This record gives sequence, C-alpha cells and structure tokens, in this order.
Amino acid sequence: MLNIVIFGPPGSGKGTQSAKIVEKYKLIHLSTGDILREEIKAKSEVGLKIREIIDKGNLVPDELVLEELSKRAEKYVSSNGFIFDGFPRTVPQSDMLDKMLAKHNISITMVLAIDVDEEELFARLMKRAVDSGRTDDNAETVRHRIEVYKNQTYPLIEHYKKQGKLFSIDGVATVDVVFQRITDAVGKLEKGKKK
Ligand code: AP5
Repeated sequence: MLNIVIFGPPGSGKGTQSAKIVEKYKLIHLSTGDILREEIKAKSEVGLKIREIIDKGNLVPDELVLEELSKRAEKYVSSNGFIFDGFPRTVPQSDMLDKMLAKHNISITMVLAIDVDEEELFARLMKRAVDSGRTDDNAETVRHRIEVYKNQTYPLIEHYKKQGKLFSIDGVATVDVVFQRITDAVGKLEKGKKK
C-alpha cells in the first residue's frame, strides 16, 4: 500500500496535486476540508458547529475530525492506499492517524510537504475567492488560516522528519512541474525500497 500525507499551508496546492496523484497511483483521496464541508452542506447540528469554526479559519477539534475521517477510511483499508489531504494538522491528529492505521497493520509511507511562500499563497487564494464560494476565502480569514498553519500545523514537519518520512516539494512552479517533483519523490522512495 502507498499511504501518502500531503501537507502544506492553505493554497499550497494540496487539493490540486491530490487529484493528479489519485489518477496516477489509484489511491483513495481523503480530504478533511472536503469532508467537513460536506457536513456543513448537510446542515446537521455538528455541521453548524463546524461552519462557525471554518469561517473563522480555526481548526476543528481533533476528535471530531478523526471521527469523520475514520468513518470513510475504514471502508477502504484493502485499497491501493490513501492520500490524506489536510490531515493530520496537529501532532495529536498524527498520533490518532497512526493508531487508526495500525489497527489494520498499515502505516504512513511518505509525507509530501509542499512549500510555497506566504505572498504567493495569499495571491492564489484571493484569486480563487472570486468564484470558489468558500466562506473562508477572504483576506482576513486567509491571513488567519496561514497563521494557524504556522503555529499549529508546521511543527508536524519536524515530527515526520524524525521518522524519515518527509519529502519537501518546492510548490512554486506550474501545476505540472510540481506534480513531476512529486512523482520523482515517489519514484525515489520506491527505488530505495527495492534495494
Ligand atoms: P482545507 O479545505 O484543507 O483548506 P486549506 O488547507 O486551507 O487548503 P486549501 O484548500 O485552501 O488549499 P490547497 O492547499 O488544497 O490548495 P489548492 O489545490 O486548493 O481546510 C479548510 C478548513 O477546514 C481549515 O481551515 C479548518 O478549519 C478545517 N480543517 C480541515 N482539515 C482539518 C483538520 N485536519 N483538522 C482541523 N480542522 C481542519 O490550490 C489553491 C489555489 O491555487 C487554487 O485556485 C489552485 O487552482 C491554485 N493553484 C494550485 N497549484 C498552483 C500552482 N502550482 N500554481 C499556481 N496556482 C496554483
């Protein structure tokens, strides 16, 4: 199984690259942002709570995210693998993910950390705001989302580096060039495994 975490600040291209990775490696795409937005659309009680948090650009509580994610992941434990997009976002979430996968004797294979500078992130998300319909795509919330990433999510880089699973990808280039960098990293890992 190939289990990838795609990691990076808001607007770094996680969703865009996930779509290409899914197509090439036939993985199951689990985006916690998409899952949480589905819950908002369903207008459930929990959906209303989630909306309030997302609109402010804060993180949804770990347990709630894991519950939503594991409901979906458990169905596909016999697939080619997963791409986790936007999850984990905190160190406790990464521990929860490891435990959930360990129940099925699987683990994270690699973490792709997409690196994009802050002004480029802001410019991309302001451009997307014109027609995304996302209530968190506005200047104030985008700035806050970037700060939340720096304070709460970025520390995970060190966590995965220590595990030897981290691959840094320069995300400032065309979508196809960034994807080529990702496939090179996957190729390098697979070549290393065969030795
Ligand atoms: P989530 O939906 O995960 O959003 P995000 O991390 O803020 O990321 P985005 O979707 O905005 O960007 P992306 O990196 O996917 O880039 P994209 O490909 O779209 O999370 C939203 C909220 O949900 C969070 O704030 C939080 O409240 C909650 N949440 C989610 N997961 C959670 C968790 N695990 N725990 C707690 N709370 C959680 O690209 C962005 C734009 O750039 C697009 O317009 C795209 O076309 C363009 N673009 C992409 N690549 C390039 C390129 N190479 N060059 C130029 N433009 C590009």
